[in-house]
Amino acid sequence: MEAHWREVDGAGFTVPNARVYPWQWLWDSCFHSIIWAELGDAERAVRELTSLFAHQDDDGFVPHVTHHGDPGFHADFWGRTGTSSITQPPMYGHALAELHRRGVALPAELVERARAGLEFLLRVRRRDDRTGLITVVHPWETGADNSPRWDDCCPGGFDLARWKQVKGDLLATVERTPGGAPVANPAFGVAPVSFNALVLFNLWELWAVHGEGEEWLWGLARTSLELSSRLDDRWDDSLATWVDGGPTSTGSGRVRTSDALLATLARPPEPREARAVEQLFDPAAFGAAYGPTQVHRAELAYDPSGYWRGATWPQVNYLHWVSAQAEGREHDRRLVADAERLAVSTIAGATTSGLAEYWQPDTGAGLGAVPQSWTGLALVMAHPPQPGREG
Ligand code: GLC
Repeated sequence: MEAHWREVDGAGFTVPNARVYPWQWLWDSCFHSIIWAELGDAERAVRELTSLFAHQDDDGFVPHVTHHGDPGFHADFWGRTGTSSITQPPMYGHALAELHRRGVALPAELVERARAGLEFLLRVRRRDDRTGLITVVHPWETGADNSPRWDDCCPGGFDLARWKQVKGDLLATVERTPGGAPVANPAFGVAPVSFNALVLFNLWELWAVHGEGEEWLWGLARTSLELSSRLDDRWDDSLATWVDGGPTSTGSGRVRTSDALLATLARPPEPREARAVEQLFDPAAFGAAYGPTQVHRAELAYDPSGYWRGATWPQVNYLHWVSAQAEGREHDRRLVADAERLAVSTIAGATTSGLAEYWQPDTGAGLGAVPQSWTGLALVMAHPPQPGREG
């Protein structure tokens, strides 16, 4: 974390990897902030989030990459200077809650910016007509760039080179507010259960920081309850997962992925949650020695070394670990045991892989960028489970 810390033009942030990812990324930074707080460095924990919001716009939109110190970098590609022109999972609600739980003093402006970021997604971002779920404008917004869930959007089926081209082209069709915030994309328009669950979870986490009685909170309560029930409507009993809304809902949006099971963060009914979680440990499903696979082993797309196509990801595993300890589950010994198993396998993978970005779930062989900052979450997961820690 020390080696990855950067001070640029007044901003302070951690790069995910010095060579492959030399900028500030949205959800990475939220995880970094939690790691800094875990390391006892409250100042860097707060600065990382403050720098993340440095280019938030008037609509509340938070860009997913900030090119601190080199605003012209990729400006043509993004159609915007200084930052990218799309967003990522708004993990700042959770980051602020984790800092708050550790007694870190939070500047009011930071909490206000997080609220505006979540309001943008809940109020301004286009909803899918049929399912009512929030849509994303680009696969990169989900953080799960090459997930088989988006395969229907790659003409002729998934192919690495073609998909790279499609991802570039998809930026051109994004519809924006007059200020440039991304609201819809007719050429993508997927409404992923994972992204929706993370929006809800981060909103509820921010409530934990704000406390009750805030007016804006009541304003969003109805929206969040409605979204939560729309999300749970996406449960498919035969697949034992939640299916995405939008154009892929009868095709690749049904592929069983570990991040789709993060719908557990949105508090589904207990039996569904139990069915979802037990698969994470089933060796015929997602179970593996070094952390759950990202894609169900029985899926045709499953590739244990593939980027978002089967390899295991520490930040996804961390979120499953958080989910297993949520409030209301404190009497359930099974979930505490689940949290422990997730921690043990993910920590084993983090150390075996040399703190890699992601790794082979059966061998722990490192993949992608090595070392990667968010893999420091393994340090956070080394805590014994604390049932009821959320909220
Ligand atoms: C890759 C990942 C994305 C992450 C970024 C920086 O693009 O897919 O989730 O935010 O790298 O680590």
